[in-house]
Amino acid sequence: QTLESGQFQWSAPSNIALVKYWGKKADQIPANPSVSFTLNNCKTITTLAFEKKINPDNFSFDLLFEGKPKEDFKPKIQKFFERIEIYLPFLKDYHFTIDTQNTFPHSSGIASSASGMAALAMNLMSLEKVLNPEMSEDYFYQKASLLARLGSGSACRSVKGEVVVWGNQANIEGSSDFFGVEFPYTIHENFKNYQDTILLVDKGEKQVSSTVGHDLMHNHPFAERRFEQAHENLDKLIGVFENGNLEEFIKITESEALTLHAMMMTSMPYFILMKPNTLEIINKIWKFRAETKNPVCFTLDAGANVHVLYPKTHKETVLQFIKDELVGYCQNGQYLCDEIGNGAHQI
Ligand code: PMV
Repeated sequence: QTLESGQFQWSAPSNIALVKYWGKKADQIPANPSVSFTLNNCKTITTLAFEKKINPDNFSFDLLFEGKPKEDFKPKIQKFFERIEIYLPFLKDYHFTIDTQNTFPHSSGIASSASGMAALAMNLMSLEKVLNPEMSEDYFYQKASLLARLGSGSACRSVKGEVVVWGNQANIEGSSDFFGVEFPYTIHENFKNYQDTILLVDKGEKQVSSTVGHDLMHNHPFAERRFEQAHENLDKLIGVFENGNLEEFIKITESEALTLHAMMMTSMPYFILMKPNTLEIINKIWKFRAETKNPVCFTLDAGANVHVLYPKTHKETVLQFIKDELVGYCQNGQYLCDEIGNGAHQI
C-alpha cells in the first residue's frame, strides 16, 4: 500500500447484547454500560479502496452493496465521516470506494449496522496505520472501536474479543464509555463456544430505528431506574462469568431482553416490537427448559427475532428442539446458526 492509492479488506461480526444498551447521551455516550457476545458467522465484509485526490474540499466516496451502487446508505456514511474527521484528519484527502457485503440474508431483520460500521472503521484504521506506522496494536483496536461507536453505538462491541463490555462500570477495569473492551476477567468454560441460533420471526423493516428508540429514553418515566439496573445486572454477570452458574445467567439475560422491550412499551410514543410468534417461541422455550432442565434461554434485539442461547454441549438437543417445535414460528422456516466469535479480521 502506498500513500497514493490502495485497498484494504476487513470482516467484522455482529454481536448480541446480554445487558442491553438502550438510551444515550450526546456523542454516542451510552446511558448505561452493556456487554455482548461477539458472533462468528453473521458478519459484514468490506473492501475500502482509496485514492489520493487533488482537491481535498469535501468527503468523496462511492458506496457499493454486494457490488452494486447503494445510494440510500450514503447520508449515513457522510454523517459518519463528519463525526470522525477530527480523529482521522486525512479523510478529505482521499476518494474512497466502499464495497460491502453481509454473510447473512439482506433484510433478515438482523441489524447490519454493528458489523457494517465496525468493518468500515477497521479499514479506515488500516489506512491510518499506513500514515502512522508506529502505532501499537492496542491503540489500533481501541481507536477502531471508538470510531465504530461513532457510526453505531453497538458497533464498538464488534471489534475485538469474545465477550465485550462497553460503558464505564466501576468494577470492570479498563471499561470506558468511549470504546468497547474485552471482558478482562475469567470466563467459565460453560461459556466456551456458546451458541446463538437466531430465529427469523419477522424479516420486515424495523418499525423503530434505534436512533428514535434511544431518544425515547429521554424523559422516559423509568429511565433512571433502568440505567441503574443495567449496572446491577452487569455486576451480577461478572460473578456468573466466573462461576459458570447458568441458572443465574438465564435469569439476567432473559430479564434484560424483556426489560428492553418493556422500555419500548412504556415510552411515549410506545411500541410493541414483538410479534405473536415471538411470544409463542418464548413460551415454548420456557416449557422445554422446565421439562428437560436444558439450560437454553432467549434474548431479543429491538425487533421480533429471537436469539436462542445455549452451551455447545447442548447443541444437538437444542437444535432438535428448534427443528421440532420452533421452526414453524419462523418466517419461511428460516433461522441462522451462530456462536461466539472473536472479532474483526483483516482479509
Ligand atoms: O447500536 P444501535 O444504536 O443500533 O443500538 C442497538 C441497541 C440494541 O441492539 C437494542 C441493544 C444492544 O445493546 O445492542
